[in-house]
Amino acid sequence: NHFCVIMAGGVGTRFWPLSTHKVPKQFIDVLGVGRTFIQMTYDRFRRICLPENFIVVTGAPYKDLVLEQLPELQDHQVLLEPHRKNTAPCIAYANHHIAAKNENATIVVTPADHLIMKEDEFERVIKHGFEFVEEYDALLTIGLEPTRPETGYGYIQKGVQVTDEINEVKTFTEKPNKELAKVFCDSHEFLWNSGMFLWSLKTINRSFELHLPHLNNLFAKGKDIFMSTKEQDFINSIYADCQNISIDYGIMEKAHNVYVHTADFGWSDLGTWGSLYANSCQDNKNNSIVGKNVKLYESSGCIVHIPDDHIAVVQGLKDYIVVQKENRLLVCKRDEEQKIRQFVNDLMLDD
Ligand code: GDD
Ligand code: MG
Repeated sequence: NHFCVIMAGGVGTRFWPLSTHKVPKQFIDVLGVGRTFIQMTYDRFRRICLPENFIVVTGAPYKDLVLEQLPELQDHQVLLEPHRKNTAPCIAYANHHIAAKNENATIVVTPADHLIMKEDEFERVIKHGFEFVEEYDALLTIGLEPTRPETGYGYIQKGVQVTDEINEVKTFTEKPNKELAKVFCDSHEFLWNSGMFLWSLKTINRSFELHLPHLNNLFAKGKDIFMSTKEQDFINSIYADCQNISIDYGIMEKAHNVYVHTADFGWSDLGTWGSLYANSCQDNKNNSIVGKNVKLYESSGCIVHIPDDHIAVVQGLKDYIVVQKENRLLVCKRDEEQKIRQFVNDLMLDD
């Protein structure tokens, strides 16, 4: 009864033109390794959970993409959201759906777009986490040693030690400002929240009742509808009323039964070209290249991403991003990549 919920509702505009609204980042082979992010996520958890115990929660337009990329899944394992409401409603939906299958489920929740380098160690940690939440009434986070004062992450302060690798959580702070992030980093008492969580269905349901009662009541109204032919209509009827809130703000910051498993399995959240670059293979001039027919001359520090059946020649570029997909081309300085979102807005494409 180990279930895996993959949250795959992000749109990932920062990776434009590779990632678009039509095909967001999690459905793309960003690294050029032959597997997309969601496929790599599935592969990792497939070592721990049976195919029939996977649930993917995503936007309604992505159903076919998910089923195409994860052919081991059945239709009913792909939950479709009519609106993007962040991760708390996404998780609430998965919980109620799973409850109709197995009330004694234990669940691991994961983003669809992270990179893990040490997969054996990852498997060990997640299995250990499952054992813990089977025994304790715990919301278990996976914490990683921070390496920089990143403001886009949650910070977990370790409290009393429970086992070798698991501590109670004293405080959980989602996306602190820069000053606070620096203080957290320097203190060495804090870990980054990986965004993966483990809990039993009973424990997480109780947390929703306690901390997000309005949201919980919306889903609870449909108690007998999940896993029936009426499920999608019911979801479509309640989603607009769901609070738009992440699980981090909605539950993790407030709950008192939060624990953290310290881990070191080569984790990165590949949320930007910069983080992708830092984690990719590079040639001897620090260029990161995806594409079979890319030739670089007198160029260094570049990210070049070209379809295999296209030919690209780049000369004299330093620290640039060059990405082509279909009829879209982006050439942008690597350290100005935060502007890409704006470029996409300015273009007013459907992308
Ligand atoms: N189905 C669905 N619906 N999925 C969603 C939605 C939604 O409305 N919103 C986000 N997701 C998915 C994203 O695709 C991603 O895989 C995951 O949920 C997390 O959402 P992000 O938007 O990427 O969260 P974040 O990066 O700002 O913060 C989270 O992750 C950090 C680590 O990467 C938090 O948990 C932080 O505390 C954590 O440090
Ligand atoms: Mg993220």
